[in-house]
Amino acid sequence: MSVHKEFKRITTHALQAMKARGERISMLTAYDYSMAKILDAGGVDVLLVGDSASNVMAGHETTLPITLDQMIYHASSVVRAVERALVVVDLPFGNYQGSSRKALASTVRIMKESGAHAVKMEGGKEIQESIERVLSAGVPVMGHLGLTPQSIYKFGTYTVRAKGEVEAERLIKDAKLLQKIGCFAIVLEKIPAELGKQVSEMLDIPTIGIGGGQHTDGQVLVTHDMLGITKDFHPRFLRRYANLFDTIKEAVEQYSTDVKNRDFPSKKEQY
Ligand code: KIV
Repeated sequence: MSVHKEFKRITTHALQAMKARGERISMLTAYDYSMAKILDAGGVDVLLVGDSASNVMAGHETTLPITLDQMIYHASSVVRAVERALVVVDLPFGNYQGSSRKALASTVRIMKESGAHAVKMEGGKEIQESIERVLSAGVPVMGHLGLTPQSIYKFGTYTVRAKGEVEAERLIKDAKLLQKIGCFAIVLEKIPAELGKQVSEMLDIPTIGIGGGQHTDGQVLVTHDMLGITKDFHPRFLRRYANLFDTIKEAVEQYSTDVKNRDFPSKKEQY
């Protein structure tokens, strides 16, 4: 399958150009070197070192426990693998809410220690100061509105956000604000498709949807979900492109059987 590869290296400006000419942006999460190498070779435009690593890599129920040091470890592994994709790193919970100084200090550590290209923060007006301080240091910021998993205990559930008029109006206001202060893109998570369309048409910067409908300028999925490595997560927005859980399990079963039957290693597989 061929993918569009006009850009040798994806920059925030390349994403802007893609939106301007109506080319959709593909984004996936990545947390380690080997997978990032495959995803980059597959031509995905943006790799997000998401704090969803807390769920899929570490097995936590929420994204809250992951630390800055752990995010830097994941991010530096991804950066070492990538030749083309833009690498964006989530600022973990507690590193920007309430302190713009901490937001900048954490961002500086991410940029220096991992070599990533941009950071992402969840929220609108309430984190404006943190976003502005990071931007003023010359670091590109991706916004994230709608379902923001770091606030899960405030929401109480992972259901669709901004279905009502008041919340939708607030999201629209926040999206305009994020564009105005200089974010280069915004993730829209789990919102009605009509709202995703309205926000995407209203903004000049790209929107990247996850459960945000067909009209956002790009799409993002958690790689472990779209490859079927995770099994017990079935939101409507998720399309599975492989069933790697079963593929890997079958390979492991075969290996185990071969070892027990003294079939592996064979004479040809030894020195
Ligand atoms: O952490 C993550 O994987 C994310 C995506 C779901 C957008 O923020």
